[in-house]
Amino acid sequence: MHKNKSYFIETYGCQMNEEDSEKLAGLLKGLGYTNTQDVNLADVIIFNTCCVREHAELKVYGNVGRLKKLKEKRPEIIIAVCGCMMQQKGVPEIIMKKFPFVDIVFGTHNIHRFPELLQNALQSNSTIIEVWNEEGEIIEGINIERQSSIKAFVTIMYGCNNFCTYCIVPYTRGRERSRKPEAIINEIKDLANKGYKEITLLGQNVNSYGKDLEDMSFSKLLRMVNEVEGIERIRFMTSHPKDLTDDVIEAIRDCEKICEHIHLPVQSGSTNILKKMNRKYSKEQYLELVDKIKKNIKGVALTTDIIVGFPGETEEDFKETLDLVSKVEYDSAFTFIYSKRKGTPAAEYEDQIPDDVKHERFNRLVELVNRICERKNMEYKDKIVEVLVEGPSKTDKTKITGRTRTGKLVHFTAPNINISEGELVNVKITEPQNFILFGEFENKIR
Ligand code: SAH
Ligand code: SF4
Ligand code: F3S
Repeated sequence: MHKNKSYFIETYGCQMNEEDSEKLAGLLKGLGYTNTQDVNLADVIIFNTCCVREHAELKVYGNVGRLKKLKEKRPEIIIAVCGCMMQQKGVPEIIMKKFPFVDIVFGTHNIHRFPELLQNALQSNSTIIEVWNEEGEIIEGINIERQSSIKAFVTIMYGCNNFCTYCIVPYTRGRERSRKPEAIINEIKDLANKGYKEITLLGQNVNSYGKDLEDMSFSKLLRMVNEVEGIERIRFMTSHPKDLTDDVIEAIRDCEKICEHIHLPVQSGSTNILKKMNRKYSKEQYLELVDKIKKNIKGVALTTDIIVGFPGETEEDFKETLDLVSKVEYDSAFTFIYSKRKGTPAAEYEDQIPDDVKHERFNRLVELVNRICERKNMEYKDKIVEVLVEGPSKTDKTKITGRTRTGKLVHFTAPNINISEGELVNVKITEPQNFILFGEFENKIR
């Protein structure tokens, strides 16, 4: 046991990485380490990296570089770098060359091996590198040290088989593997017993859950999770439009705990570009799906991811994206400028779009997205919404914060009323703004 020793973890990228970091925290806790928010005090420092866009990578290189001085001052500390970046060919070597003070390099497939790697590093002066090229068996039973005590991510499947031509994820996370439903349900029951209220089921493409298991599907799993007592809300991400089948829409419609919010990345509104992206649906098919969702799930919020400036994108293609955004009326959208990823097919395409054109289109898209988002939020004025309380607002201690079932952030006042995190309350929205809905407490639900 390592009494009085502490760890610091910096996480980049998506919820997959966040969950991996929570597993690493659980493993470290098991070894007797405690968490610190101050990197200067930590005995073990972990950088869990992302490489989905170039920007994410540059940030990592900059921040790891900054640790050099700390290591000089306190040579006994252990610095580890892991995550998706390490799964790319040549990157562990770059890390070793640029940052020889790094003690451990490992990847996404061998998180569970961290205690042993740490032990080796503590006894050795050279860098320990262990990156697996292929995914192993799913490892169950790692204690997860979660950040929140009311909301939890639960990974239901690992990897991705889709190979969208711009995307690095299938190369860093391996092929699709589903966790057994029993393992998932047991984890969720355990969370419910600990007082967790909201579960987000995670996977790069949750709709293909269970394809590698017998007689299992995502909609079946959703219905099973809906039965777990104590859980109030179920969310899931990400849905690939090509696999979002009717049975899933029906499960969302039928199960009272499943929130009416679907994150449905479209990436582009141009059928031509979608084909080049290998997304396997057309603009029309996507719009038909959105129509079906809106008809079946009352009050549904739709959010999305969009890439601008994919190789070969013409002004006409881009206008198709603007048109689709106007038609769908997303509640919010993550917008990205296409970033070349080494090893992906699109990085080799010759018709790359110049930076100034990408930026100009990006700005036009963001403006449209924000305008629609604002308009959608205004619809909440004077409405009463169910909010799952997360605690006092960080920026304004007189307010309490939480989210609606549709995923909107709410800040509300509740003078002289005792409200704890995890409670479900009704809030009247008095002042909806672009990213926050402000309101007043109405009554407790439970
Ligand atoms: N599995 C999810 C999320 C993948 S990564 C999905 O399929 O939607 C999250 C988002 O990053 C993607 O939806 C995409 O919009 C964006 N992205 C991925 N690769 C990118 C690249 N090379 N350049 C810009 N954005 C990218
Ligand atoms: Fe990447 Fe496409 Fe897989 Fe999403 S579905 S992780 S965008 S390859
Ligand atoms: Fe990044 Fe890996 Fe997630 S590349 S977006 S952390 S799967």
